[in-house]
Amino acid sequence: MPESEKRVPVLVAPMMDWTDRHCRYFLRLLSPGAQLYTEMVTAAAIHHGDYAALLEFDPSEHPVALQLGGSDPGMMAEAARRGAKFGYDEININVGCPSDRVQSGQFGACLMARPEVVAECLQAMQSECDVPVTVKTRIGIDDEDSYGFLRRFVDTQREAGCRKFIVHARIAILEGLSPKENRSVPPLIYERVFQLKRDLPELEIVLNGGIKSVEQVDEVLEHVDGVMIGRQAYHDPYFLARLERHFNPGWSAPDRHSVVVEMIPYIEKELARGERLGRITRHMLGLFAGQPGARAWRRYISENSFRDDAGPEVLIDALDKMPVAA
Ligand SMILES: Cc1cc2nc3c(=O)[nH]c(=O)nc-3n(C[C@H](O)[C@H](O)[C@H](O)COP(=O)(O)O)c2cc1C
Repeated sequence: MPESEKRVPVLVAPMMDWTDRHCRYFLRLLSPGAQLYTEMVTAAAIHHGDYAALLEFDPSEHPVALQLGGSDPGMMAEAARRGAKFGYDEININVGCPSDRVQSGQFGACLMARPEVVAECLQAMQSECDVPVTVKTRIGIDDEDSYGFLRRFVDTQREAGCRKFIVHARIAILEGLSPKENRSVPPLIYERVFQLKRDLPELEIVLNGGIKSVEQVDEVLEHVDGVMIGRQAYHDPYFLARLERHFNPGWSAPDRHSVVVEMIPYIEKELARGERLGRITRHMLGLFAGQPGARAWRRYISENSFRDDAGPEVLIDALDKMPVAA
């Protein structure tokens, strides 16, 4: 695949259980330029667990950022150091996740109320690694739903040295809404993020939340430096190829069939290491979204990938059943 001519202002969101390394390998085939993010990995897991297994990734994933969750500066610094040593291009702090589990660990979105703790982590992390340490945050939490609150949070991190912020443009409600509801119920307020960029033009500001079309991306980019795309990139991964071509008209986008074929050597390598086919193909279910045969593709892959002996022939068989020019 030819290298992207230039970096596209598109980032793919960290998504737990979704943007694992298999997913990122697949998405990279659809966009050479987008910046990819890992799922959130807790600093505690890196401290106590098999960190090499948690951190490994394929070199083709670059540029790729490691997202960390935690609030203990020492542990966050250790995790950042290990991440940078593994070759991640950026380390990102999660200040956006509202789940109970994350709140009881005192990190994620609840840290918006404790900006000085995030700043302490940030400084400890920056001193342990030489890649940028960035922050992904919401625009507020609970009753703290004002530009002033967001601005104070960002100012504290800016003073601690952070230069890049990814802002999910809705507040998080810490009690009463599930994480899923927290991604749709609080309204999106893009204007708050635009104002941040107007007031602090020296910062790199990336907007996240509800982006689903190329037209929307163009509109948002009139106000901020980048867009981060979550669910749309997962449910319709070919959207990333459309965006790549939009920003790099010279890039010849692979068709969906050839993306599947390009996955096969990777799948063979992973199966030989003991991985199961379904753990990889589950990320490919949306590849034909909106195309003739999309449902049949999803069904065939879902029904056949989880057999113990399932191998790449499942994908070939599924392709054989697809209309030719999808
Ligand atoms: C399944 C799922 C898992 C998520 N996990 C994380 C996570 O680990 N870290 C994080 O910062 N955000 C996480 N998010 C939030 C996304 O990064 C993003 O902020 C949110 O989905 C809004 O963007 P979108 O409207 O483009 O999907 C997750 C979202 C989904 C759908």
